[in-house]
Amino acid sequence: MGKIIALCNQKGGVGKTTSAINISAYFALMKKKTLLIDADPQANATSGMGLDKKSVQKGTYELLMGLASEQEVLVKGPVDNLDMIQSSVALAGAEIELVNMSAREFKLRDRLQQLKQEYDYIFIDCPPSLGLLTLNCLVAADSVIIPLQCEYYALEGLSQLMDTVGLVKQALNNKLYLEGVVLTMADFRTRLTGEVIKEVQAFFKDRVYKTIIPRSIRLSEAPGFGKPIMLYDKLSVGAQRYKVLAKEILSKQGQPEVAADKQALEAENIGLETQLHRTLTQDELGEDVNQEAVGNIDDQS
Ligand SMILES: Nc1ncnc2c1ncn2[C@@H]1O[C@H](COP(=O)(O)OP(=O)(O)OP(=O)(O)O)[C@@H](O)[C@H]1O
Ligand SMILES: [Mg+2]
Repeated sequence: MGKIIALCNQKGGVGKTTSAINISAYFALMKKKTLLIDADPQANATSGMGLDKKSVQKGTYELLMGLASEQEVLVKGPVDNLDMIQSSVALAGAEIELVNMSAREFKLRDRLQQLKQEYDYIFIDCPPSLGLLTLNCLVAADSVIIPLQCEYYALEGLSQLMDTVGLVKQALNNKLYLEGVVLTMADFRTRLTGEVIKEVQAFFKDRVYKTIIPRSIRLSEAPGFGKPIMLYDKLSVGAQRYKVLAKEILSKQGQPEVAADKQALEAENIGLETQLHRTLTQDELGEDVNQEAVGNIDDQS
């Protein structure tokens, strides 16, 4: 029986898709039979894996709506052991179409029952919202990975996300838990990145992955070539980090789960946002932001 992990954060552009593509590619490299489901109508994971999102006939939308079978929506990914279910703009309609359906939160879960038997790991790239699509992903999932960008507003809206995870656990999917928090786009030259890392680690403790993903030009280029980083530039810093992150995630499997207990999370979150605000409302913030503007880490340097 496989495990379903949703990459979720309603905030846009935090590294959900980049993490979903590269973690699933490295899981496949580690000989885990892996499926990546693109559940975002933007279809960035689909194009990032080298597939043409404009020509998708049968993908996540058709699976969700019962218009295609599990076997019909599966396509081969760019590496061995990796399959994909593609997204397309049609999926945007699902958000509205689901509203009037019965058991609307359980559609994806029900459609993944069979596939769960066939894969070791299923990763879901969620859209940047907390609507019905994301709800379907959280109900279908065993656990959640939250990517957080190392920037000033990283934790904005996190209480809302944790609240949603807590409510889903309470009412719709009591096995759901927080798998881990991955810090992305870190620029280690700035004090801001250091502060964000420190604060996130202070509150999420061992739920934050030790492997932090740096800001990397190669990582931002790879989707334009439709390739996971391992096929675009496997020696780049970004590739090495995602490889180590995938190993870290895998090494934590089988350990006792940290329950996404709603009350505990709420208590944590209230403290989290207050404390972070206090730490970062400092005069030097302006200086850090300017430093950030200087440039990115070049993988080749
Ligand atoms: N570590 C990184 N270094 C540099 N650029 C990155 C890195 N991670 C992601 N990016 C770039 O940042 C942008 C946002 O990343 P990504 O698409 O993974 O975020 P997302 O959370 O999936 O966004 P959305 O909410 O729109 O789905 C993309 O252009 C991506 O190529
Ligand atoms: Mg995305």
